[in-house]
Amino acid sequence: MLPESFIQELKYRNDIESVVSSYVQLKHSGKTFSGLCPFHSEKGPSFHVYPDTQSFFCFGCRAAGDVISFIQRIENLEYKEALQFLAKRAGMAMPDEVENDSLSRLKTRIREINRETARIFHQNLNSPAGRDGLNYLRSRGLSDRIIRRFGLGYSLGEWDRLYKALSAKGYSDEELIAAEVVKKRKQGNSFYDVFRGRVMFPILDLSGNVIGFGGREIGGGGPKYLNSADTPIFKKSRNLFALNFAKNSKEKGMILAEGYMDVIALHQAGFDNAVATLGTSLTTDQCNLIARYTDLVSLSYDSDGPGQNATNRAIDLLKKNDVKIKVIHIPNAKDPDEFIKKFGAQRFRLLLEGSANSTEFTISSICQNYDLDTDDGKVNCLNKLAEFLATIPNGIERDVYISRVAADFERDKDVLAQSVQSLRRRNEREKRRKDDGKLTVFAVNMPDGKTNSINDIQRRNNIKCAVAEDRLLAALIMNPDYFKWVSQKIQPADFVTDRNREIAQTVFDRLERNLSVDLSFLGENLDLEAVSQLSRGVMELSGRRISAEETEDYINVLIQHKKEKTKEEISQMDNEEYARYMEGITKGKASHWRGKQ
Ligand code: UTP
Ligand code: MN
Repeated sequence: MLPESFIQELKYRNDIESVVSSYVQLKHSGKTFSGLCPFHSEKGPSFHVYPDTQSFFCFGCRAAGDVISFIQRIENLEYKEALQFLAKRAGMAMPDEVENDSLSRLKTRIREINRETARIFHQNLNSPAGRDGLNYLRSRGLSDRIIRRFGLGYSLGEWDRLYKALSAKGYSDEELIAAEVVKKRKQGNSFYDVFRGRVMFPILDLSGNVIGFGGREIGGGGPKYLNSADTPIFKKSRNLFALNFAKNSKEKGMILAEGYMDVIALHQAGFDNAVATLGTSLTTDQCNLIARYTDLVSLSYDSDGPGQNATNRAIDLLKKNDVKIKVIHIPNAKDPDEFIKKFGAQRFRLLLEGSANSTEFTISSICQNYDLDTDDGKVNCLNKLAEFLATIPNGIERDVYISRVAADFERDKDVLAQSVQSLRRRNEREKRRKDDGKLTVFAVNMPDGKTNSINDIQRRNNIKCAVAEDRLLAALIMNPDYFKWVSQKIQPADFVTDRNREIAQTVFDRLERNLSVDLSFLGENLDLEAVSQLSRGVMELSGRRISAEETEDYINVLIQHKKEKTKEEISQMDNEEYARYMEGITKGKASHWRGKQ
């Protein structure tokens, strides 16, 4: 991390108007400057520079930001490189990084704490008190060899076994809390272990460091799985379980499964190319990470409704990377773990080899929404399928699936092909209209330059929440002093759209550590699209202050959404799920109580 004073000085000496002028011919228009946007091709000038806020915005492609992100974009540089570039331009020397000694020391300590914790958990398996853990893992069919390979363990049932053991080794309370293995009770000066009475799955990064844990309850209550919270060395959204093994696998591609147990069962059965997310749904960062190591992803999620929804979501996200996607359909079992136990590894390999590509999967999941025994259902389904077929970019692939759908529905292929073709023309027209349409107002809720990115779709579907999120983030950036009470009401996890949730995570992290959240600093942790979105949000206010009351209104929008979502989720639960949910609530209350005493 670089000192804040350096970045302020850097911006002061690199006036945005003069920096941009070396790339764009700028014309004065009132208080601002305008010119042809260097980031997309256009005939009229939609690119604007605002000297008073030292920012830029393009009404055409919606790129936005400050002088640092301008240089990042135009010179195609990382945040740090852009700082170097501007320092050189202004004749300033780059200061030494103050990855302030204290932070890098803390990171080292957290790594040590995690390693020590993993060792203790693993040893517990061989102690009489940890017998339950070992028995559980064995009852799930895991061999001693795979237990060792994954370093699985058990956290003992008492409240503070780990806390005492690690304190005795010289780790301070602050360090243990920062590592997220210990929590402080709300009252009094006492501490308790995060994981108790759970079988433990250590999460490793690609250098082999233990960076966090997942823990499954085995009768002690609480949520079924508990995952480490993010720490300075661990970001759930940027890591994958077992990638440290999978990246070296000789198997073809990678298998993406839903849970820890699925991955371990797959590895034990010889599929050491399986990975899973860490208790959250798939993120863009994780897709990019996977795409770095493989060009084929076989999705192997649970066969239930949520699993299939997650599959659809993963397909959408992965499609943005240049990877081939296959979908493994698991018959007669709820997940890969159960399937392998019932039918064996050989049969799973057959599934893997026979797995459908994502196009086939989407077609069959569309068909499931219609009653194909009625004429009405058939017509509606065919219409929906035609719409989907029209989105397949590759002509040959499109033709193959048009033929197949026509044959399945016993329809004339040419008729279907024609209607797909006219849908394609309609889509083209719409796209062109969107590209041409110049936006005349700042409207934060409009899409990015890239049309139909996942973010745009999410924003469109949750427009009220998305705008509330934009405003809430802008409010925090302009009034960091709100943070204390805001963070008591809402957390990044409550943000609805993925991108704003990631932005919120960064903003909250920085505010918690008392670091500046000026836009110029956030580029260190956020990508350019995120910086753009955030500056649009700030710009939209054009200097207007957001009061605490207004901020609270935005928070309430998100809280209300969360309540409604929970209600909806409950209404969709089956009896067993509902029982588990209620048990979770009452158990949660009980432990909350004990925590307070
Ligand atoms: P599942 O409920 O499908 O669990 O959750 P599973 O993997 O089949 O586990 P077993 O076989 O019952 O032991 C899938 C994943 O979702 C996350 C975990 O990462 C889990 O592996 N999860 C689930 C949580 O984070 N918390 C929960 O309470 C439940
Ligand atoms: Mn399972």
